[in-house]
Amino acid sequence: MSRSAHPAGPRHADVLPEGHYSAPPADLNRLDPKVWARTVGRNDEGQATVGGLSVTELAEEFGTPAYFLDEADFRARCRAWADAFGQEADVFYAGKAFLSRAVVRWLKEEGLNLDVCSAGELSTALSAGMPPERIAYHGNNKSHEEIRRAVEVGVGRIVLDSFQEIARVAHIAESLGKRQRVQIRVTVGVEAHTHEFIATAHEDQKFGIALAGGQAAEAVRRALKLDGLELIGIHSHIGSQIFDMAGFEVSARRVVQLLAEVRDEHGIELPEIDLGGGLGIAYTSDDDPREPHHIAKALNEIVTRECESAGLATPRISVEPGRAIVGPTAFTLYEVGTVKPLEGLRTYVSVDGGMSDNIRTALYDAEYSVALVSRTSEAEPILSRVVGKHCESGDIVVRDAFLPADIAPGDLIAVPATGAYCRSMASNYNHALRPPVVAVRDGEARVIVRRETEEDLLRLDVG
Ligand code: LLP
Repeated sequence: MSRSAHPAGPRHADVLPEGHYSAPPADLNRLDPKVWARTVGRNDEGQATVGGLSVTELAEEFGTPAYFLDEADFRARCRAWADAFGQEADVFYAGKAFLSRAVVRWLKEEGLNLDVCSAGELSTALSAGMPPERIAYHGNNKSHEEIRRAVEVGVGRIVLDSFQEIARVAHIAESLGKRQRVQIRVTVGVEAHTHEFIATAHEDQKFGIALAGGQAAEAVRRALKLDGLELIGIHSHIGSQIFDMAGFEVSARRVVQLLAEVRDEHGIELPEIDLGGGLGIAYTSDDDPREPHHIAKALNEIVTRECESAGLATPRISVEPGRAIVGPTAFTLYEVGTVKPLEGLRTYVSVDGGMSDNIRTALYDAEYSVALVSRTSEAEPILSRVVGKHCESGDIVVRDAFLPADIAPGDLIAVPATGAYCRSMASNYNHALRPPVVAVRDGEARVIVRRETEEDLLRLDVG
């Protein structure tokens, strides 16, 4: 569905085609702070800058495509989350959004904890010095080896996702002579308003144990009986890219209800609840995400209120934002290779990356914005589709957005808000070499994840 089939303003066709776009922005050169990282601006020559460095210099030094991550913004977002939740709560950054050793060090320095969901993420965290007790281990099918390693190194919590896993973790912990702190992940039966593949609290899906039918209560019963487990709380994650707090409220209410049932049945009050991640960010100027302090206030209020009415002490709350911390901090810089105007339709602008560095558009129909960043332009806005260089017509980075009509090969364009789930979901499709992540701060840029090389590809090909 189009947001506006007939956007106002100059255009290269009388009637624009249906699509996911608003009217062209009044000023195509403006880099809306809503979607761009905090230190992004333009210099006197009209080039976009980040951390004081122009994209033109950055492209020369690091090549394109590349992700540029604003370190000051990342750190500021960590602090905003930590401050909003205060001493009485814990913020776990969800490493799946984007993880590297530099990121782990920033998290450590800014006082955040880390949620990992694989052996690879755990290794990255440990190798950069994250204290194991600040790590939560997730996943719906953790292997025996993964569980063993997590218990051995002493992760702060393992989030149990199934009945089998309750028994498995208990057994492994006991065999190692340990008592593992765990939470049980429940599905609360909330339909979050987001894409089907990133909604996780309805019952018909793979994660967690349903509250419905007494399943979660039974899971608690079993966990409490096992010597290898110290059950510290209940976990719920309702989905991703969510703007509406209503789903979190229902989730918090149902989790607190379970705590009350546990108290009534077992005479114990579980001390913690984790409400997961999933807070949305602005991908386009039309999105209006909540600030961390609003989110913290809303969640604290609902949990406190529900606990008071159930006669429970308020548990310690934790949250797991991934996208909301790293998403807005990075943009992907591309060079335009070809431009193909289709009269009455749109202009296809091909860049030197594509679905291998951003699969989200193809996978979730995600919306992004784009800007010409190597210069400004006063040319009229044309409806454009930014596409990659892969052998696939669904290889779309930005489905519908306006670029200036003089867009040409050699121009640099950038797609903001690509810090989360872009590099972390990047692929080698067509043997593309995954782009580097370059951290920029105070006039200095350094590679934190280097660009892949053909040698990297060939090293794996041992046939
Ligand atoms: N906690 C748990 C248990 C999760 O499964 C996730 C995300 C998070 C926290 C962090 O969610 P966030 O705050 O980043 O939304 N690839 C998809 C998103 C999948 C999210 C999976 N789990 C995307 O690109 O939108």
